[in-house]
Amino acid sequence: MATSNVTPANGRLGVMVVGLGAVSTTFMTGVLMTRKGLAKPIGSMTQYDKIRVGRGAEKKYLKVGQIVSMPALDDLVFAAWDVYGDNAFESAMHAEVLKEKDILPVKDELEAIKPIPAAFDHDYARRLDGTNVKKCADRWDMTNQIREDIRRFKAESGVDRVVVLWAASTEIYVEPNEKYHYHLADLEAAMKADRKDVVAPSMCYAYAALSEGCPFVMGAPNTAVDIPAMWELAEKTKMPIAGKDFKTGQTLVKSGFAPIIGVRNLGLAGWFSTNILGNRDGLVLDEPANFRTKEVSKLSTLETILKPDWQPDLYGHGNDEDTQYFHKVRINYYPPRNDNKEGWDNIDIFGWMGYPMQIKINFLCRDSILAAPLCLDLVLLIDLARRAGRYGTQRFLSCFLKSPMHDYTQGEEPVNNLYQQYTMLKNAIREMGGYEADEEID
Ligand SMILES: NC(=O)c1ccc[n+]([C@@H]2O[C@H](COP(=O)([O-])OP(=O)(O)OC[C@H]3O[C@@H](n4cnc5c(N)ncnc54)[C@H](O)[C@@H]3O)[C@@H](O)[C@H]2O)c1
Repeated sequence: MATSNVTPANGRLGVMVVGLGAVSTTFMTGVLMTRKGLAKPIGSMTQYDKIRVGRGAEKKYLKVGQIVSMPALDDLVFAAWDVYGDNAFESAMHAEVLKEKDILPVKDELEAIKPIPAAFDHDYARRLDGTNVKKCADRWDMTNQIREDIRRFKAESGVDRVVVLWAASTEIYVEPNEKYHYHLADLEAAMKADRKDVVAPSMCYAYAALSEGCPFVMGAPNTAVDIPAMWELAEKTKMPIAGKDFKTGQTLVKSGFAPIIGVRNLGLAGWFSTNILGNRDGLVLDEPANFRTKEVSKLSTLETILKPDWQPDLYGHGNDEDTQYFHKVRINYYPPRNDNKEGWDNIDIFGWMGYPMQIKINFLCRDSILAAPLCLDLVLLIDLARRAGRYGTQRFLSCFLKSPMHDYTQGEEPVNNLYQQYTMLKNAIREMGGYEADEEID
């Protein structure tokens, strides 16, 4: 009999979401509808997947909740921050992701989720002009106000534990800088000195969450917790962190498809990915500085799966310097499609004796429909990690993330191959449940 070392998921779990837009309201509505038996949480690993544990005669397939103690969906209590004052019902209606008939049955619960004023800086997302914004003396004050919000929510709702999830807009790119982002003391000094150029609001949310004993998940590509200073804070507070950027549409396909090329030892001359997207996320990403953050995140996936320096014959040709295949990613803001993103991938490969071939992938997806189950899984699994006493970057959650965090100061590489990530995920759950880790894929 396996013995799990995980503290039971007793009591209620507070889920504080930064951003009350398309993704977060789709997530919340789906959970509330599922609770009423009116919807199914399709796409959620924690709700559906069955993991093999044991071998031979002992072999069995168990759901995550049968391996480790997990909260029921009934135990989740939501709160959110946003720049706009709309409550979760108004915001869900405005997002037009879900049909009215899938929102109205939980109207009352959604209306009760009123956004807390946001810790926001217009320079970090210029396309947003909401007024539900905190007045802050400096970045340190901003952080303290968020800490106060978390404490108030805990006290008023009576939840036992809180997880903070960033599902707000992508901020402009903040390049990790050794002077401010590598040591906690330097980051704190920059906050106190109100260095707005190097301390993004998302860093204030992450700092506040960890300091209040809450795990933090970064669902956008912001570098907020992907800096050594924040890893230091996670160590100090013994809190788990995960990021960055939900792996939903095109990058999910990429990380699942690229291994086919690798496994067959085919060559890659170029991979061109383009998208049209019309929601508020698309609007924010239409700003070049915000797109830059997304681009960095989206580009990294392929380079660690098909590595030019490992196989120069296969992956070492294509771009201007002739050292690597061409890899381009484009996002185009196109309002008529709203949340229904369309992605095209054109892949130029070559085979035996260098003969060229092409693959085309056209994914007509729904952005928030793909992201909502990831919100649920990330929230539940990072809470699990905390209850298992794990802290710092949770690499086992890479499966859900486009640009998984890794210690780049030590030359560590992220794992982007979907199948390796899935094995890592299942093994971590097996181990937390007191079972043996396993290499077999099934
Ligand atoms: N849907 C997907 O497939 C997907 C995949 C990967 C990442 N993401 C990321 O998830 C995030 C949310 O996407 P969405 O479609 O819900 O966008 P959205 O624009 O509908 O919602 C984001 C909300 O965040 C709010 N916001 C911005 N800055 C804030 C701040 N500092 N504090 C509080 N609220 C703030 C905005 O007002 C907005 O309402 C985006 O960053 C997006 O890039 C989405």
